[in-house]
Amino acid sequence: MEISLSVNGSEHQFIVSAGETLLKALRRSGYYGVKHGCETGECGACAVLMDGKLINSCNLLAAQAEGHAIETVESLGQHPEQGWKVTEGLHPLQMAFVEIGAIQCGYCTPAQLLAAKQLLDRNLNPTEAEVRDALSGVLCRCTGYVKPVQAVLRAAAVLRGEVMEPLDEGGWLLTGRSDQSFEAPDPGGETGALSGMPGSTAPEVLVQAFPKIIPSTRAETYKRVGKPEIKVDAIKLVQGKPAYAADLELRGMLVAKVLHSPHAHARIRRIDASQARQLQGVAAVLTWEDLPRVIYSTAGQSDPIPGPLDAFSLDNKVRFVGDRVALVAAETEEIAEQALRLIEVDYEVLPALLDPGQSMLPGAPILHDEPEYVNFDESDPQLNRAAQIRIDIGDVEKGFAEADRIFEAEYQVSKVQQAHIEPHVTVTYWDEDNRMVIRTSTQVPFHVRRILAPVLGLPVKRIRVIKPRIGGGFGGKQEVLIEDVAAHLTIATGRPVIYEFTRDEEFSASRSRHPMRLRLKTGVKADGTITANALYALSDTGAYGCHALTVTGNTGHKAMALYVGDGSYRRSPNIRYYADVVYTNHPPAGAYRGYGVPQGYWPVERHMEKIARALGLDPLEFRLKNSLRAGELHPFSTAWSEGREPRPETIQTCGLEECVRQGRAVIGWDQKYNQPAWHQVPGKPHLRKGIGVALVMQGTAIPYLDMGGASIKMNDDGSFNLMVGATDLGTGSDTVLGQMAAEILGVPLEDMLVYSSDTDFTPFDKGAYASSTTYISGAAVARAAQQVAERIRWRAARMLAAPEGNLSIDPALIRLRDRQAISPDGRAVTLAQVALNALHHTDQEQIMAVASFMSPVSPPPFAAQFAEVSLDVETGMVTVDRLVMAVDSGVIVNPITASGQVEGGMVQALGYAVCEEMVYDEAGRPREHNLRDYHIFQAHEMPSLETVFIETFEPSHPFGVKAVAEIPMDGVAPAVGNAVLDASLAAGLEVQIDDIPMTPEKVWRAIQSVHG
Ligand code: FES
Ligand code: FES
Repeated sequence: MEISLSVNGSEHQFIVSAGETLLKALRRSGYYGVKHGCETGECGACAVLMDGKLINSCNLLAAQAEGHAIETVESLGQHPEQGWKVTEGLHPLQMAFVEIGAIQCGYCTPAQLLAAKQLLDRNLNPTEAEVRDALSGVLCRCTGYVKPVQAVLRAAAVLRGEVMEPLDEGGWLLTGRSDQSFEAPDPGGETGALSGMPGSTAPEVLVQAFPKIIPSTRAETYKRVGKPEIKVDAIKLVQGKPAYAADLELRGMLVAKVLHSPHAHARIRRIDASQARQLQGVAAVLTWEDLPRVIYSTAGQSDPIPGPLDAFSLDNKVRFVGDRVALVAAETEEIAEQALRLIEVDYEVLPALLDPGQSMLPGAPILHDEPEYVNFDESDPQLNRAAQIRIDIGDVEKGFAEADRIFEAEYQVSKVQQAHIEPHVTVTYWDEDNRMVIRTSTQVPFHVRRILAPVLGLPVKRIRVIKPRIGGGFGGKQEVLIEDVAAHLTIATGRPVIYEFTRDEEFSASRSRHPMRLRLKTGVKADGTITANALYALSDTGAYGCHALTVTGNTGHKAMALYVGDGSYRRSPNIRYYADVVYTNHPPAGAYRGYGVPQGYWPVERHMEKIARALGLDPLEFRLKNSLRAGELHPFSTAWSEGREPRPETIQTCGLEECVRQGRAVIGWDQKYNQPAWHQVPGKPHLRKGIGVALVMQGTAIPYLDMGGASIKMNDDGSFNLMVGATDLGTGSDTVLGQMAAEILGVPLEDMLVYSSDTDFTPFDKGAYASSTTYISGAAVARAAQQVAERIRWRAARMLAAPEGNLSIDPALIRLRDRQAISPDGRAVTLAQVALNALHHTDQEQIMAVASFMSPVSPPPFAAQFAEVSLDVETGMVTVDRLVMAVDSGVIVNPITASGQVEGGMVQALGYAVCEEMVYDEAGRPREHNLRDYHIFQAHEMPSLETVFIETFEPSHPFGVKAVAEIPMDGVAPAVGNAVLDASLAAGLEVQIDDIPMTPEKVWRAIQSVHG
């Protein structure tokens, strides 16, 4: 039918089908700022304004919008300079989002902007609560909402006509910057107690949106590194440009759908797709009988994959509810869905294995009986064991024998979802050279190419993987999860194919964090010296062993490395970490930001709290007394390295003590901990306040393995193309990599044209995981920039010397700054002159360089995580009021993007702590199907979030950086758990929660059990 709509002030005629939603009609007409994140009206990514009112366009039929005025983000504003045409520029809301750094992946940004516009159109003087309320219908998984809220408040002020401070380093960011500097403490001391710290004056607490930075005295004064540069992709994302994988129209593109298994464990006796194939509009139906049996691992990791090969694109056996049964490509989504219903499958239902505790017992159903299965290390399909870890450091039994007290307890952590707002999405097509192009929302484009080549029957060289903008990944896209579906269907039909997960598929057929049962035993002397630590983890990898060994290995490698003990134990710690990673008929687990480490810190930090309180020790002093310090050997570095040969590594920098000092001051620990009056809530006798802490460490990349490449090419005007294989999935890595190159080349960031990533054009990079991009890819960028800088200096020296006859200038003495090459006597040529000289005038050459970097070390970031809660002792409700995180991530390249990582990470970790959980029934069917069943935090539900950066200068990196992306995931849950204990003690109870999430029901039951 034909309808007429006013879109962004222009009348349009649309031909729509009866059931077509407004979302689809708008996107089909090129309004790509309208995004898709679910089908059920929960994510808000599809929001538009209809007659000035925010609505979810997925919930409305296009026909119902007839005669109404629709506004999309494209109506707000445009880039101010478009060649000879000058526009009014961006809307103040867009400008504020760009300047404040409110955009990470940017997938929710168009809808957030429209939600904010609806508010400001009616109220130019909103309170923060009103802003949060206005944004509450648009879910954001990246930002923690801190900066979007600040951006809306700033835009409101601009629209009121107020003159705002410029957002540069002299204005807002470093207000209150401490004069105190910090150097890593001398290694090897016997005690890490607080006595060695400088004075305890409470540092000024800044406006929420911006971090406090305690700078390293060894970090030089850089011009671009360390500055709050605007994200290089912010301008396009704030306009809703078609930057994501699904924002691509190709003539004749088919829509793919997958038939998923209704059974947790079954063999396909017979499958008949004949009726589906005959349906008009169906281009292809593929079953296991149509595809070659190529076994592989879906884990997006380097070669060789450190895990078993146990998956097929399609198999004659299904191993979880949601496993693949058949693939369909059709002209429309509706036809594809109809075709799925026409496929007849005769299943032989097999006994399902749903309790990981049963997996290795005799008689358990065997999931992987396929003869093609390829073992890795200790995997054993006959035992349903995907991986086994046995690490002994020192002599644990001797350590226990030397202890005065032994503490032992069991803990449990749940299965949770990455819940990026952009679903998995892939577009595939044959290009004009008969090469398979895969445009996909992935964190690992180079791994996708390598892993898929045998699966598709193509050589690597005939596959090109393009990673456009990514709407969040958090590890969920470190998996070769759906690319093969679209590619098989393109091979079958010869046509372009798009496959996009529904939100239901995200929950039932994607990946998740490994749930684990953990048993921790610790030996302690009466003075608080830890003598031995032993952890056993039973990890449920689900139906396939993707990331099984490495995720669970990191549970011990990072969390069990922090507490080595004191005195002689510090030099020779006793640590045991054993784990079994078992198959069950649950959906597979995989990589999720933090990569196994949050699972380890839940037991470790809950345990440390119990020990400190049982021994009557200050929890902060007890922790610092036993924690790892600079100059000491990473205890696991000689024992384990993700299935590769371990090599010793000494910790070079550790700001943990200062993290504790600063975090303690910011949260007001001394005024709250052990202060009975603070724990009371006036007028609310059912409430108690509590405060808790957790110390954590992560890693930075995988040593001797992770490698990143970068190339830099100089253009005629003195600008540069920086091409990296590194994968910016919303973290801002393109920006920080550009900042490092700009620093070395002496140009503003706007002169670096950063592009990531395309397997045809950008150098190899292992991808975005293991908190490695700033460190690994950044060092590659620095190397490439140094090479380009050298060439510029050489040519500039020649240009500057020429007019003076034979006067020669040592190129090494030429400085690059302010787009100039400047000789020691002050004479200069611009970089544009150098570029023209190189490309057009004299001894012509293309100034460019390519470099790569691999690190022999994985320098850990450290952090102190604090939490304040209110506990309702009548209902068990836990309200987290405040989270403060003090982080040593080395030198901070961009305070906006780095603090955004911490804020967003803390909020994801908060969900892990209190509400997120994926649950299955006795038949293995998931309870969670959408973002209503699975609650992620909304803008109006947030606690106060504060970030403090304690800079150390990591000597293994040219700019002294360490990682920041994953460590915010580690400490929130135990800090909240410890705060709940603290609050309960104030009510005369001792509520020990050992399982997460800490739901009201679980806490209520714990309270009842204490009451007896
Ligand atoms: S796509 Fe409409 S609310 Fe999620
Ligand atoms: S920036 Fe909001 S979902 Fe990524």
